[in-house]
Amino acid sequence: MASKYQAPRGTFDVLPESSRARARVEAAASGIFARAGYGRIATPAFEDTELFERGVGRSTDIVRKEMFTFEDKGGRSITLRPEGTAPICRAYLEHGMQKLAQPVRFAYSGPFFRHERPQAGRYRQFHQIGAEAIGSDSPLADAESIGLLAELLTELGVPGVELRLGSLGSLEARRAYLDELKAYLHASEGELSEDVRERIDVNPLRAFDSDHEGTRGVMEGAPTIVERLEGDDAEHFAEVRALLEAAGVEYSIDPTLVRGLDYYTRTIFSFVCDRLGAQSEIGGGGRYDGLIEQLGGPPTPAVGWAAGIERLLLALGEEGETPAAPAVFISHDASSPEAGRTALALAGELRRAGLAAEVDLAGRSAKGQFKHANRIGADLVVVLGDDGGLQLRDMESGEQEPVEGGDLVAEIERRRS
Ligand code: HAM
Repeated sequence: MASKYQAPRGTFDVLPESSRARARVEAAASGIFARAGYGRIATPAFEDTELFERGVGRSTDIVRKEMFTFEDKGGRSITLRPEGTAPICRAYLEHGMQKLAQPVRFAYSGPFFRHERPQAGRYRQFHQIGAEAIGSDSPLADAESIGLLAELLTELGVPGVELRLGSLGSLEARRAYLDELKAYLHASEGELSEDVRERIDVNPLRAFDSDHEGTRGVMEGAPTIVERLEGDDAEHFAEVRALLEAAGVEYSIDPTLVRGLDYYTRTIFSFVCDRLGAQSEIGGGGRYDGLIEQLGGPPTPAVGWAAGIERLLLALGEEGETPAAPAVFISHDASSPEAGRTALALAGELRRAGLAAEVDLAGRSAKGQFKHANRIGADLVVVLGDDGGLQLRDMESGEQEPVEGGDLVAEIERRRS
């Protein structure tokens, strides 16, 4: 009977049948990070609320509407982390990592929390894989970072992926551009959606994201920051582009690309996948040269990204993958404790030899055990005889033979090779 309790809205259980696909994604990312010198970091699942208010930005949807914030028993305001970059910058400063050789490269994965309206690919607890390189303003760091996510998507075989690239310029250039954009929006206030209108002075960039018809019309003629890039910003962006081209990473320039976090400067990017619905972004990120300073540290340039594991799995169509079929099922007389002990010991021996082995734990009859072995897709069944002898049945051919000489591992390996 189903229990009256359910996983909270927007959350889900990761069941054994889908954890194999997850493990594959994580293993691919781990390999790529390790080879590129990105060291693992794990920060707490919750932080002081102020870290996100200052880091992510008070005008963002994340901080305004989506944080799981509560007061702890000591009266502190705590927030379940909605993203990983601000916490990693906090850790970088807290542990004095500006004294290390720069940049410091970090890799992470884990759960994140946003109180969003749940839909396919959008959850209230989701998982990200991410990478941050803190302490370099070189375009090489941008290209390296983007290249890692491109490599991960290629290695996993994610179909229909496209990379969109933009640049927001330096903080000063961005400020000047935002003033220009605000003036432009104020001039057509009457045609904008209420939401956009209310936030012209707080977060005008979000107007590019609106699906309101009037707003879209206005935005078609809006100035874009990419057109306004000058001097070092323009050079930096040109170099990032040249490096991506040299590395054979395909991209398109999206002059209206915006991201939902306030800390970005210069390069921003987004990998989208046409197999996903409305939530088409698999992963994205960019440069955040002002964030560490914003959190009270010295000026420190940085770049990074995060990708959603659930979106990767959706794009791969691997949500419901079945577990690995055990190579060997060990059947035994359920009424004999001694046979049970032997079966368990044999399974241990096979597993130590690297074989997947399963023992009947449900007290099934001999016939029931064969049926079950068939259902779970076992290649071979070990049959424990009353006399202690072992027989091996090939489930495909149905042939059953005694194991000569008693070396079960050698016999199984011979048959499976
Ligand atoms: P973000 O774009 O907010 O960036 O999230 C990164 C990825 O997390 C998204 O592309 C998406 O795949 C996944 N994601 C976000 N929200 C949800 C959700 N509600 N449900 C499922 N998946 C979701 C960041 O978080 C930045 N910290 C990335 C970054 C790192 N920028 C620089 N360094």
